[in-house]
This record gives sequence, C-alpha cells and structure tokens, in this order.
Amino acid sequence: MLILGIDTSCDDTSAAVIKDGSFVLSNVVSSQTEIHREFGGVVPEVAARHHIELIIPVIKQALAKANITKEQIDLIAITNGPGLITSLMVGIDTAKSLAYSLNKKIIAINHLEGHIYANWLENKNKIIFPALCLIVSGGHTELVIIKDHLNYQVIGQTRDDAAGEAFDKVAKLLNIGYPGGPIISKLADNGDNQAYNFPRPMINSKDFDFSFSGLKTEILKLTKKHPNLDKQQINNICASFQKAVVDTLVFKTIKAAKEYHVKTIMLGGGVSANKCLRKDIKQKIQQEIPNSHFSLLKFQFTSDNGAMIAAAAYQHAIRKKFTDFIKIAPETNLIL
Ligand code: KG4
Ligand code: ZN
Repeated sequence: MLILGIDTSCDDTSAAVIKDGSFVLSNVVSSQTEIHREFGGVVPEVAARHHIELIIPVIKQALAKANITKEQIDLIAITNGPGLITSLMVGIDTAKSLAYSLNKKIIAINHLEGHIYANWLENKNKIIFPALCLIVSGGHTELVIIKDHLNYQVIGQTRDDAAGEAFDKVAKLLNIGYPGGPIISKLADNGDNQAYNFPRPMINSKDFDFSFSGLKTEILKLTKKHPNLDKQQINNICASFQKAVVDTLVFKTIKAAKEYHVKTIMLGGGVSANKCLRKDIKQKIQQEIPNSHFSLLKFQFTSDNGAMIAAAAYQHAIRKKFTDFIKIAPETNLIL
C-alpha cells in the first residue's frame, strides 16, 4: 500500500511516500526555520504563506524521489490538528483537492498520533503492546499508553509550557537564538550540568503531569540578577536547565512504565532528538526496568514530517477507517 503523507501543522512543509506503513520511499521536509529565525519564533501568517508556495513543489519532489506517479498512490494522509489553523488549512485543502481529482481515499490524522507512529518507520524491531510513548514537541508534552494500535490513553500532560517550548523560551531569555532546543543542547555539551541547582518540577506529584513554566521563571530571575553572563556561565545554565528537564521527563516516564507494566517505551516529537534525553532514558530503562524494551526513534523522524502521518494512516487504512468529512481540529489533544 502506497500512502502519500502530508503535514503542514506548523512551519515545516512536508510530504512523504510510505510503503506498507513503515518503508520510507521518500520524506521531503522543507524547513522554514531560517525565515522565522529573525522573528524569534514561528509567525503563523508567514508560515501559511510559505506553505502555499511550497506545498505542490514538495509533493512533486516526494513523488519523484519515491519514483512513482500520483496515480499510483493508494490513499492520502493529512494532518488535521493540532497545529496552527492557517498552516493546517493549506495542507488540508491541498490534500482534499488532490484526493478529489485523483479519486483517492483520504485519512485525517492527529499530529500527535503521527509523532507516535514515527516509531514504526524503518524499524525492524517489533513494538510490543502495551507501549508507552513520551511525546515531547514544541507544543505538547504527553505520556500516552498505547494498549493496541489506535487505542490510546493519555495519562499525563503539561499543565503549562511544553518541553520544547521551555527550551525555546529559555534560549530567548539567554539571547542565544532560535529554535532553542538544538542550540541549548549544543551549548550544554560544553557546560557543567551541576553548576546550577534548578528544580525538577512536579517530580513528587502523584500524577504523571508536567510543568515547565516555573523552570523558565528561574532562568528569568537569574538573567535579571546577572545581566552580563559570560560564555561559560551560559553553557553551564544550558547544561543545568537541560538536565533538569530531562531528569523530570525520565523520572515520570519510568514511573509510568512501571505502574502500567508496559513492554515497550518510546519517544516522539522534536525534543526526542535531544542526545541527553535519549541517553538518560535508555540507561534508566536498562537499570530499572530491563524487561521493557526501549525503541529508539530514528533521528530524522523526531521533528515534523509527512512520513509519520502516512505511518499512522496505514493503521487506519488496514482497518478500513477512512475519513469522509475532514474537520479541522487545531486545538485537539490526543483524545481520539
Ligand atoms: O515536533 P516538533 O518538530 O514540532 C512540533 O510539533 O512542535 O518539535 C519542535 C520542538 C522545538 O521546540 C525545538 O526547540 C525542539 O523541538 N527541539 C529540541 C531539540 N531539537 C528540536 N529540543 C531539545 N533538544 C533538541 N536537540
Ligand atoms: Zn510535531
């Protein structure tokens, strides 16, 4: 089964062709990072305008790279939320028009479901249920139990900022650039992660929720008190902040994995590219729950891409769950 997957939920215009839910024939992502850098964050209207310019060239490139014609596609998968409304609209309208003109079926996919299914891409290891996925992106932080395909239970989420958002906001406070995640991670390599004793928010709460806005406030107070931080101090703040976020994420994930007796643990979303998170979670799983398997998401599928949307759609398609009427759902969570 050949699925064309499209995602325009935020600032990346992406299209991919996936065979049988996991083989990536092409995955084209046109990043707008350089365009939004000067604004220090994604400007929704600017993102939508670029999606309009890029969407057809990106789809054409995805088909060409996969070496197929548009007539050979079996169905089209499109993200219908959560995300920026104007960005989502471009992808949805394009997908609908394409499906209508080619007489193909269409499946609307929740973006977070896509981040979970990125784990099935180019993965030779079988993912055994029940599984636990820590979704950590720019807009969301969620712990999700996957009892079986398409059967989700959100057991925890952030009460304020998402993990990626915290990285981006802290980078802004430190004036080190955008997007914050990869920059903080790089500077952290040359910093001391014990230099500052930042809190591990909500680590002792009984639930599986997170909160990162207080951590951001700690760094705001620090930058106000010390406006002229030198390079090494900034590296130390980056390393200590990253460790505080990672410790919190890892602690709650391990706790949830034990309580729900999951067989597989996986990550999803842009922050799962973080080297410290990948290393620490793997180590803690080996030490504390060696009978659970850690499925390491391939680096290229951590951030937004069309391939993960197609991978999720495959599971719907083989169960004949097609979408007759697409609703745009910019605010939805992963409660399907
Ligand atoms: O999943 P994603 O590409 O888009 C959303 O759905 O939001 O995630 C983007 C987020 C940004 O906040 C970015 O700073 C963060 O992922 N990110 C990272 C790293 N690479 C990207 N955060 C921490 N460490 C990284 N290496
Ligand atoms: Zn995303």
